[in-house]
Amino acid sequence: MPGLAVVGAQWGDEGKGKIVDYLAAQADMVVRYAGGNNAGHTVVAGGRTVKLHLVPSGILYPGVTCVIGNGVVIDPEVLVEELDALEQQGMPAEKLRISNRAHLLMPYHRDLDRLEEEARGSRRLGTTGRGVGPAYVDKAAREGVRLADLADEAWLRERLAAVVPRKSELLRKMYGHPGYTVDEMFDYCLRFRSRLVPLLVDAGEVVGEALERGQRILFEGAQGTMLDLDHGTYPYVTSSTATAGGVLPGTGVGPGSVSNVLGVVKAYTTRVGMGPFPTELSGEQGEWLRQRGGEFGTTTGRPRRCGWLDLVQLRYAVRINGIRQLALTKLDVLSGLERVRMAVAYEIGGRRLDRMPASLSELAQVQPVYEELPGWSEPLASARALSELPEAARRFIGRLEELLGIPVVYVSVGPGREQTIAVDGIAW
Ligand code: GDP
Ligand code: IMO
Ligand code: MG
Repeated sequence: MPGLAVVGAQWGDEGKGKIVDYLAAQADMVVRYAGGNNAGHTVVAGGRTVKLHLVPSGILYPGVTCVIGNGVVIDPEVLVEELDALEQQGMPAEKLRISNRAHLLMPYHRDLDRLEEEARGSRRLGTTGRGVGPAYVDKAAREGVRLADLADEAWLRERLAAVVPRKSELLRKMYGHPGYTVDEMFDYCLRFRSRLVPLLVDAGEVVGEALERGQRILFEGAQGTMLDLDHGTYPYVTSSTATAGGVLPGTGVGPGSVSNVLGVVKAYTTRVGMGPFPTELSGEQGEWLRQRGGEFGTTTGRPRRCGWLDLVQLRYAVRINGIRQLALTKLDVLSGLERVRMAVAYEIGGRRLDRMPASLSELAQVQPVYEELPGWSEPLASARALSELPEAARRFIGRLEELLGIPVVYVSVGPGREQTIAVDGIAW
């Protein structure tokens, strides 16, 4: 059963959208399994730049079926806007299907995200403010509204009557927000009914049947390993399972459905939001990377924090996800540096540490131990084969493979689909 999970190996924004778009040429189906519109995936192909938040990055191929799984929380306003924008760009999402078990992200989730962050003050998490955390909270608290509920008016009203008054009370009492009435939320939901209900399916069945037919399925990760609710740098994480393990509950398929995991690694590290980041470069070098790499968020426009590659963190990501192959992105951004660095270990209180500590106070104190490699001055944007890369860039790739013990099968040297070097094929 050829199912390939493509996951972010760092703190998100590794270039998953670009890699999924590139690989979708070989796929029958692309499935999003986690997150919401906190994700921002930019795809550049055929002179078009497409920014996606909820729609899977296979959408540029008219023959590929795109599925939003039950593990995704869906802001219907954002989804409808995204579908309209795609249509205007000449890409109607005709083969998009949505899990009827996916949860709706409601207006009060957005309010709560913003108000909770404000209340945290200097201890804020730096969320994207899209309501994603509160939507997952309600899902786990069994106070969510699912897309299937849109199809049955009486049942929808019953669900809203069960949750909206309590949410409104919370908003009023804790934050002085006026809250919402059940009628308001009922009318709000009905606005999306005619557009979304026809797209609803039992996604587990759709994906499961495709796998049984031997179709090639790409499971598109959102966020990154270090933002995973369980395995990331908690509490500075998102509220879903961003790692490969999330494919199963987020799609409704069994463990045998993922035959390979491809990790997407940026040639340096970035993170948006708060929390420790051992290899962060706060001065001029960080600014240089930010400008060169265009490191400003697709979703919020916030400047991304930048730093060197971190092999302690990446070894952890390889293990947590079961990554077997790597796609290395944005190697072109490093051109022009005399020397490039990668952290190979941490040090804390004179002691060497080879593992990611669970304690965030410890992680905040570690000092990276760097290995320095020669840099290269040549631009890489037009390279189409490994042999066209400068020796020092090849050495950088080789060292990464050696330290992680797995092969780099794709090297990305620019945002465009064609700016991709296939070193080897993907094992489906
Ligand atoms: P995602 O969230 O993992 O899909 O990544 P984003 O789309 O948020 O951020 C990656 C950014 O880098 C996007 O603007 C991409 O167009 C761009 N990008 C992807 N791969 C490359 C690359 O190899 N080189 C350069 N220069 N840009 C890239
Ligand atoms: P893609 O899919 C980078 C970060 C936020 C914040 C934390 C919690 O584009 O890689 P949330 O809004 O999820 O409650 O915020 O997670 N975050 C991301 N950072 N890329 C993403 O997605 C992210 N999605 C969430 O910045 O630190
Ligand atoms: Mg992104």
